[in-house]
Amino acid sequence: MYPPRYLIPTQSTTDKQASAPCLPAMFQQAFLDLPPIASAHGEVTLPGSKSISNRVLLLAALSHGATEIHDILASDDTQVMRESLKTLGCEITETGTNQLRIVGIGGQLQNKTAKLFLGNAGTAMRPLTAALTLMATTQGGQFEVSGVPRMHERPIGDLVDALRQLGGSVTDLGQAGYPPLRLGDGDTHALQLDAPIAVRGDVSSQFLTALLLALPLVATRDVVIDVVGELISKPYIDITLKLLAQFGVHVQREDWRRFTIPAGSRYTSPGQVFVEADASSASYFIALGALGSTQGITIQGVGLDAIQGDIRFVEAAQRMGADVTGGPNHLCVKRGAWPLKAIDLDCNHIPDAAMTLAVMALYAQGTTTLRNIASWRVKETDRLSAMATELRKLGATVDEGDDYLRITPPATPGEWRPAAIDTYDDHRIAMCFSLAALNPAACVVRINEPHCVAKTYPDYFETLFDVTTPCVGQVPVICIDGPTASGKGTLSQGVAKALGYAWLDSGALYRLVGVAAEQAGLSTTVEALADPAHAATVGELARNMAVRFEGEQVFLGGQDVSAAIRTEAAGMGASRVSAIGPVRAALMDLQQGFVRAPGLVADGRDMGTVIFPHAPLKVFLTASAEKRAERRYRQLISKGISANIDSLLADLKERDARDTNRQHAPLKAATDAALLDNTDLGIEESVQQVLSWWQSKQRKT
Ligand code: DC
Repeated sequence: MYPPRYLIPTQSTTDKQASAPCLPAMFQQAFLDLPPIASAHGEVTLPGSKSISNRVLLLAALSHGATEIHDILASDDTQVMRESLKTLGCEITETGTNQLRIVGIGGQLQNKTAKLFLGNAGTAMRPLTAALTLMATTQGGQFEVSGVPRMHERPIGDLVDALRQLGGSVTDLGQAGYPPLRLGDGDTHALQLDAPIAVRGDVSSQFLTALLLALPLVATRDVVIDVVGELISKPYIDITLKLLAQFGVHVQREDWRRFTIPAGSRYTSPGQVFVEADASSASYFIALGALGSTQGITIQGVGLDAIQGDIRFVEAAQRMGADVTGGPNHLCVKRGAWPLKAIDLDCNHIPDAAMTLAVMALYAQGTTTLRNIASWRVKETDRLSAMATELRKLGATVDEGDDYLRITPPATPGEWRPAAIDTYDDHRIAMCFSLAALNPAACVVRINEPHCVAKTYPDYFETLFDVTTPCVGQVPVICIDGPTASGKGTLSQGVAKALGYAWLDSGALYRLVGVAAEQAGLSTTVEALADPAHAATVGELARNMAVRFEGEQVFLGGQDVSAAIRTEAAGMGASRVSAIGPVRAALMDLQQGFVRAPGLVADGRDMGTVIFPHAPLKVFLTASAEKRAERRYRQLISKGISANIDSLLADLKERDARDTNRQHAPLKAATDAALLDNTDLGIEESVQQVLSWWQSKQRKT
């Protein structure tokens, strides 16, 4: 798992465009509600390809010499591969962002026993099973490979059969033909390499890839692999062959039936390898451009000349109407024909990206048929059945065959339904169904367990929100107002985290004005601020403050003022400057500019009454003054700041009185606010209360 992003959106008053929204990671979120999307525009830099990343990691680890890998994907599936290689004794160093240096083991086992947990990563399980079996058998090792329960339902028997034909020792530790497996028996044995090795090619091309990656380790003579049955997903074999060549192994291919690994093959590091961006991940943004972009979506990192087979998704998208142009390392996609055209397509060559076509079919005129996709049944989940079920929830009519899907979209916008999409721990289901948020009925689309995207694209939703514009007024805002030290900040952060929303701490903005005024030599006493000319000057200062939020740090004109704005004095200063009209007016646009998909939780004094009067949920949070003073006291003491509870209570009452009695935007509950007295509530209970109010406000899905 990767560290969560922070809650405060990155935003600068001087450069709003340049600062990307910064949302919390959605790892523990039960669901993510996608506001309806009106249009898409912008540039996306895709993460590295999963298939290439895991192959390159293994090849670099098995090679002689060190390899510098650039643009490697950082995701769950590559993480399990990296961990396994380290366990096997491989030296891996991070040398930059998405950049690694791997010192290869030159085909010689460093550790002869290990237990490897491979999650749900097929691209780790299959090749490691093959490579470790051959090394363990010839060098006297013994390994165990296992994964999550779904991995133990994904077949591997055809690969195991091929390895046993060679004399490799493989023991089933669970159901025969499925992981977990024991590889090697601790003794050395000779392999039988003289007869051609038969492997089935019609269930998963990963079995052949696994053998192709492993056999060069033992190719003391020419080794021949014969494919039994029609080979599926040929482009993935092409990737394998191209990468083998980069690492010095040139396999001879006769049609797609016979592969010969030449005697004396040896993996040698090419020194540097650049990983192409993931063409399957590109499919979501290609579709997004085709569905909702008149100005175009530019996709960086993968071009029309990509070595990944899923790049041929472009042709399928073009047939449906997408306007795609591209160069060596980029693509640009716009809406072409609209509505899209229904297609009837054999998708055997693009099994993963074809899921995206299934969602595009919702926007086509007529019925789309996707054929030859039986391999979907043995992927992260049974994708044929899962896609059919979830498409139906949105209002489509779906015919699920053994190896095809036939999809007829809702006939009219009125037949679209708001749906909660189950994702089955399958990253591609979560990502492709996000495209349903462009539906013409402007229905909210709920994605359950959105964190599953971390398998291949941890930042997927953040990237999606970066390049899409929600329908006007459709991004929800939850307002949490209340007096000082009522616990608004903690509650708001908890709610924002649970929902994957951005968070606005509006008090921080008033504190910043107070600090900025002090720094500029402008008095913030009540008397000075009573002078309209002086108040106007402070208002101007507030309007032009160069504020930047970066994670939990706050910068004013480049200076880190995170600690300075949190003092009690800064709180009092904020209370005084916030009482004057020019300051409140100056901060209005800034605060409203924090609204971003998928939603915002805003806390302050007037979020529900003035800044977001149409917010669908407003909460007014209170606690007794004594309880609040006690909380503030504990907070200060825990930070090592000395405090006196009586003077804190007096200050707090003074601030309450000023915030409540001021002429501009006085602190008061909005008439439609839900009242929450948290004097005797813990933070968890308060968060749950707000979430349950929010839940009951949602349209039933
Ligand atoms: O929430 P806080 O203690 O950080 O707020 C500091 C001061 O800012 C508070 O005393 C009143 C003012 N404020 C305001 O007037 N309106 C808001 N929306 C938020 C804070």
